[in-house]
Amino acid sequence: MKGHVPTPSDLADKMVAELFDGHPPDGGDRILFPGTGDGPFVAAVERYCEGHDLSVPEGVAIDRNPELLAEAEEQNGNVPVEFLEKDFLAVDASDFGQFNYVIGNPPYVPIEGLSEEEKARYKHEFRTAEQRFDLYMLFFERSLDLLADDGRLVFITPEKFEYTHTTGELRRLMTQYQVERIEHVPEDSFAGHVTYPTITTIHDRDGEETHIVRRDGTVDTVELPGDGSSWASTVRAGDTDAYDYDTGVTLGDVTKRISCGLATGRDSIYVQSAGEVPEQFVEEGWSYRTTSGKQLTVNDGPDSGDVIICPYDEHGNLVAEDELGVFGDWAELHREELESRSCVEKGKVWYSWHENPPMDDIYGVEKILAKDVCDPPEFWAERTGAVIPRHSVYYIIPENPDDLDTLLEYLNSPKARAWLEANAQKAHNDYYRMQSKLLKKLPVPETFGEKKQMKLI
Ligand SMILES: C[S@@+](CC[C@H](N)C(=O)[O-])C[C@H]1O[C@@H](n2cnc3c(N)ncnc32)[C@H](O)[C@@H]1O
Repeated sequence: MKGHVPTPSDLADKMVAELFDGHPPDGGDRILFPGTGDGPFVAAVERYCEGHDLSVPEGVAIDRNPELLAEAEEQNGNVPVEFLEKDFLAVDASDFGQFNYVIGNPPYVPIEGLSEEEKARYKHEFRTAEQRFDLYMLFFERSLDLLADDGRLVFITPEKFEYTHTTGELRRLMTQYQVERIEHVPEDSFAGHVTYPTITTIHDRDGEETHIVRRDGTVDTVELPGDGSSWASTVRAGDTDAYDYDTGVTLGDVTKRISCGLATGRDSIYVQSAGEVPEQFVEEGWSYRTTSGKQLTVNDGPDSGDVIICPYDEHGNLVAEDELGVFGDWAELHREELESRSCVEKGKVWYSWHENPPMDDIYGVEKILAKDVCDPPEFWAERTGAVIPRHSVYYIIPENPDDLDTLLEYLNSPKARAWLEANAQKAHNDYYRMQSKLLKKLPVPETFGEKKQMKLI
């Protein structure tokens, strides 16, 4: 079942109360339930209306799963809601008109869970289908399309859309409406899932104030940036008081290596587009895929399309000058400039880099990458092991390769982000500086440490 995580009824009640707060349904109002599942929000609307002596608004409930829909219909048969088996992402205003209310818990399905055909179609049809998008982003976009003037939408989703690079366009779209309220609800709201959920209320009207409720219970009124940039520092959901870090285990304890990537002293020479590098360099193994920190964020991952021309062998030893072959002929063309680098002035061989790459550790090994100066701190998996990170990238090699996905998820969680933001040095523009010593001290859940213990025994 693609993305089915049911909403507990108390959470559905809370969201319905938020939806109708100060805006009770009136005769003729219509309500939409996208990705309705077995209908928890339909039931909650019915409970609310009964409790407040209101009539249930007419509605449309859509899901593409026929079994869940049948259950929804069976349990909520007495309400004026039409239950339709449809792909919500293929529905538009010409099908059902617009709605005064939209409420839901849209599916969380990352891009890896979609077929090539779906990815291409969504990229064509949705402005928010950028980079490594997730279905909940498209549910927001389509639902906002279907929202009537002065209509209100309440969704529960992961909070990631507040700050990731991939969700920049979604943030821009949301701020074209009034984002009235964002409430960060407890991590354990969905039994068995750690999801960092947020309830977002969007009102189709002008207005710039947003009420923020943080996970530590504090509230604030803010004005969100409208240019798609991160809301992290405005929302400051990452307040460290909200979390317990006292695990006694740090990232340094559960990793083999946390280091800064390689400095060549002249990337303008050593780094080239993969399409332009001479065939012979590739055939003779002088080039490796590479990424800079900026490329990591722009490409939302380590596929930069660039390669680095490397004078070191597979163990990271500098190749002798008389064995350089095609590399030597090419390097000679740049000799003057290469000799002017500070590392050569300090005694390094004229074609070497600032330091030897620790190839045994970094090549052929899955790793986690982060940009050195960033806002917010963000981490990506490098699964091929074939990418050599450059100096503006930090790389993290888990002690146990099986931990890569859970570690990555933790590093990108609000909890880890809050700690990093509270402890990192600040660079220009209030960006955060990732450093090996900072990353090594990051507290991680005890479970990673336990696995390490088990291995040692
Ligand atoms: C996270 S579940 C939430 C279900 C329900 N709203 C609740 O809160 O319990 C998301 C629902 O979206 C449905 N879904 C996923 N993709 C869909 C699509 N393209 N069109 C319609 N429904 C979809 C799933 O079948 C699932 O029931």
